[in-house]
Amino acid sequence: MTPVTKHLFLFASLPVYATASCVEYSIPRYPPRNAAPLDPTPIGLSFEFYMWPSYMTNITPPMQCAERLSDLYGRTMPIRIGGTTQDRATYDPEFEGYVSYVNEDPLVAPMELTYGPKFWDLIPEYGGETILGFNRGDNNRSNTFAAVVEAKRRALRNLVAIELGNEPDVYNMWNKSIVVPPWNASQEGASAADWAQEFLNVWKQPLPILAAGSYAATIPSRPDWPNVPYLINTAFNDSVKAGVKTYSGHLYAAPPNKTDLAGEMSHVKTVADLSVFNESIALSHGEGVPFILGETNFHPYDVHMDETFGAALATLDRSMRAVTIGIQRLFFHQGTINQALFNWWSDRQINAPFYGGYMAVQALAGGTSIVELDQGDSSYAVYVVYSGHRASKILLINTEYYAEGVRPTTDFTLSGLRASRVTALRLTAESSEVVTTREQTNPGSPRPTLGGQWFSNADCSAKGARKVETTRVGGGKATFSLKASEALLVYL
Ligand SMILES: *[C@@H]1O[C@H](CO)[C@@H](O)[C@H](O)[C@H]1NC(C)=O
Ligand SMILES: *[C@@H]1O[C@H](CO)[C@@H](O)[C@H](O)[C@H]1NC(C)=O
Ligand SMILES: *[C@@H]1O[C@H](CO)[C@@H](O)[C@H](O)[C@H]1NC(C)=O
Ligand SMILES: *[C@@H]1O[C@H](CO)[C@@H](O)[C@H](O)[C@H]1NC(C)=O
Ligand SMILES: *[C@@H]1O[C@H](CO)[C@@H](O)[C@H](O)[C@H]1NC(C)=O
Ligand SMILES: *[C@@H]1O[C@H](CO)[C@@H](O)[C@H](O)[C@H]1NC(C)=O
Repeated sequence: MTPVTKHLFLFASLPVYATASCVEYSIPRYPPRNAAPLDPTPIGLSFEFYMWPSYMTNITPPMQCAERLSDLYGRTMPIRIGGTTQDRATYDPEFEGYVSYVNEDPLVAPMELTYGPKFWDLIPEYGGETILGFNRGDNNRSNTFAAVVEAKRRALRNLVAIELGNEPDVYNMWNKSIVVPPWNASQEGASAADWAQEFLNVWKQPLPILAAGSYAATIPSRPDWPNVPYLINTAFNDSVKAGVKTYSGHLYAAPPNKTDLAGEMSHVKTVADLSVFNESIALSHGEGVPFILGETNFHPYDVHMDETFGAALATLDRSMRAVTIGIQRLFFHQGTINQALFNWWSDRQINAPFYGGYMAVQALAGGTSIVELDQGDSSYAVYVVYSGHRASKILLINTEYYAEGVRPTTDFTLSGLRASRVTALRLTAESSEVVTTREQTNPGSPRPTLGGQWFSNADCSAKGARKVETTRVGGGKATFSLKASEALLVYL
């Protein structure tokens, strides 16, 4: 090798950096007036109704991971048990198992199932605050109210809310017998009110207890589509409203292009997806009750991008943005095991989106209020979490997509910092497209890491060396570099 070619070889092997762009934010020392109050456990889990016993008793590591999230909160993570199969469930007081259904294909949810009283015994066994769903779609009041009475007897201590029907706005898609055409906001609203009143007569105390709405889609341009503002403004009278603990919406973003992860993970898209709830949030607060996302996840149909690291960043950003605009809690849905690609877990596997959920809990736990500093019009998100009067954590997210080639970097300069140095944990992966594997054998293989660590598929314990970054603050300012598709949690 001649000296010249050697020189060229060395030069060519140097990493090539794209010009860094930079953004600057000033951190308000005290919570600004527009800061949103934070619930102590804003991120929860939703379990598809017929899968609840399987998540609790059959597979690892979902409940071990839930325990890790509960450890971050210092209290048990809240859950919701419901979904499309809640409106296919018949209660049988004599049935001694958890659930029973004909399973033609384990990856397809059954159209009918039976469940017994043992189903609810798993709720006190879990031990956290639980929202429980019941069947309205099959229009069998005696069956549903018999179930309600027994569930109350067995699990009252943990029941914080009851849903009467899941996604009733799309009941006609499932040919549910309760549907009265055209099943617009008027018919659905009257049915919701009537069922709520009869339920309240059966339930009696404690009140309030209903999670109302639970619509699949919120479409502000379609006032005839069943919607929470209609329930509040028109369908519910004071007697029904006295029973409402919270209003609830569901959020899955239907991607216009099922392979466009870059567009789907972008902060601008997350902001737009959540803005459809503005009116529902404002009206709920006007009634003095919270608004939650009782069920949410990336997309409504199984698309590959749901299992990627990009989905983890979207999960993180959706969580932070939602609580910032006044949504009290989000319940991330866990659907059919080994089938729903957005699931945080499969059997013996932690999926990439869990890393985003974990970091959201890490960022929000212990916080009392939150404010977003960016304008929602770029790929960069900046959230400041306050504990009492003190800014305690800052979460930076660079939602730019990255697959291969030159990976752009953005410098986030923060001013108004009071410490002389700060520490931070980074969420990263080799690209937005990284997915996890069941084997986890090769420690060098691409996987998401949080603070240098990854979670073991065996028991959800943290593996690898923990990496805490320290940054010096000069004149109240510090700069943090985030590559495309990275997030950084800064501890003040
Ligand atoms: C409603 O459920 C009860 C059992 O609780 C059952 O006996 C009855 O046949 C059901 N009614 C309809 C219309 O399916
Ligand atoms: C609902 O009914 C329509 C018309 O009978 C049928 O084409 C469709 O397959 C049914 N859908 C379901 C989910 O059963
Ligand atoms: C309130 O609305 C419910 C449901 O429509 C109805 O059953 C009930 O009688 C109403 N209560 C009053 C006090 O008007
Ligand atoms: C729903 O449809 C009924 C019957 O066509 C109609 O009277 C009512 O105005 C509609 N409601 C809404 C909210 O569009
Ligand atoms: C969908 O997104 C992919 C990835 O960004 C892109 O290659 C493709 O052209 C898009 N398809 C359409 C129809 O826009
Ligand atoms: C919702 O509120 C946000 C923040 O106030 C605003 O930027 C957005 O335009 C609103 N969106 C809708 C659909 O009302």
